[in-house]
Amino acid sequence: MVDRFPSGVSRYDFLDELSRLERASRFDQTERNYFDEGPHLISSSDLPWGDEVRHLSVAAYERFIHGETWITGGGAREMEREIVSWMGGLLGSVDPAGFLTSGGSESNMCAILTAKQRAGRTGGSVVFPDNGHYSLHKLCRMFDLEPIAVPAPSGHLDRVDPTAIEAAIRPDTIAIVATAGTWAYGSVDPIAEIGAIAQRHDLYLHVDGAFGGYILPFLELGGYPAEIPRWDFRVPGVCSISADLHKNGMAPPPASTLFFRESGLLDLAKEICPPNGTISGTRGTGPIAGAWAMYRLLGTPGYVEVARKTMSLRDEIVRGAEAIPGLQVHPGSLINMTLIHSTQVDLRPVVDALRAAGWMFAVRAVPGPASIVLAPMPHNEGQAPGFLADLAAAVAVAPALTGSEAVGAEKVSSYGF
Ligand SMILES: Cc1ncc(COP(=O)(O)O)c(C=O)c1O
Repeated sequence: MVDRFPSGVSRYDFLDELSRLERASRFDQTERNYFDEGPHLISSSDLPWGDEVRHLSVAAYERFIHGETWITGGGAREMEREIVSWMGGLLGSVDPAGFLTSGGSESNMCAILTAKQRAGRTGGSVVFPDNGHYSLHKLCRMFDLEPIAVPAPSGHLDRVDPTAIEAAIRPDTIAIVATAGTWAYGSVDPIAEIGAIAQRHDLYLHVDGAFGGYILPFLELGGYPAEIPRWDFRVPGVCSISADLHKNGMAPPPASTLFFRESGLLDLAKEICPPNGTISGTRGTGPIAGAWAMYRLLGTPGYVEVARKTMSLRDEIVRGAEAIPGLQVHPGSLINMTLIHSTQVDLRPVVDALRAAGWMFAVRAVPGPASIVLAPMPHNEGQAPGFLADLAAAVAVAPALTGSEAVGAEKVSSYGF
């Protein structure tokens, strides 16, 4: 065994440093992680396959860790084609086409670049409900497009008015983006209506299913008793759908998918972003193999089971939070995304107390001054009672909100985007 490596570091010091950095990333506390991304490979005592799938996905990732998809990645490209044809088919495409990207942001970027290529113009605008993810604003800045974020009907942050979307379209608009599984409301935009608008105006319609993409189809197949409005390629006018493997796909990051309605659109994506349609050139094959392992081992029946488990955890949290005096759960979520807020209590000290107790979750400044965003996954099995008890205890001693704090996000930048 080597005593010292060329840098001068010893094996012992290296492993010690690695452990310190691992603790700083809080991998050791992931059992209290309600955040939407991160190491949430499926692992739940309540699911029949327990940790086995997680181990095999890690093994697949490791075996492909050295690879790239460019010259030597034949096996990974085959895995990618399998994932795209399986999931693209489930999303209602008869000619599934697409690719894997590094995440929901890149998938949105590739979709809008494809729309740009279709429109054959530079500049222009993109219309979307203002519940759209901030990556839409980011990509507009990057690609010299104007974001037209259409405000929600007053008092209903999770709702979208299709008439207002249509009214916002300008002659230079190249695309509309709608969301299936909004962050942080968990709502699904009225995509059937928006699809009809896109067709009327001959516009590209992209559906951001980063969060909802890998759960909504399985909830529908499993007959989960929520009414899910049509949102995928079965809606005429939908050109592309992004869906994140590293969210509800349960795969190790970074991994997302972008699906096109038909292969002609993939050709346009490749024209503007050769050779794959992706922003990145060299793509590591580890994430593709990790995601492929999840698909190959769970398949559709496994994901249906995961979706069912995930939603029962969400329902447990919703019921518990609603029973805590002073708290409200934002209505309208169709997926495992729960926004807890309060019109009576200042949740900022509550957030601090929960974080000090080791709970990891996202915080949002709207509704103000701070709201708690939870995205339970199967590995959160058994944690809801402890979380709810800590939440109730912190809320019981939290100060009341004064009127002006209850609105506006301006003063609370450290509590959200
Ligand atoms: C709806 C939606 N779109 C896009 C993204 C961006 O995904 P990523 O962070 O993987 O780039 C997210 C992330 O939470 C999201 O919720």
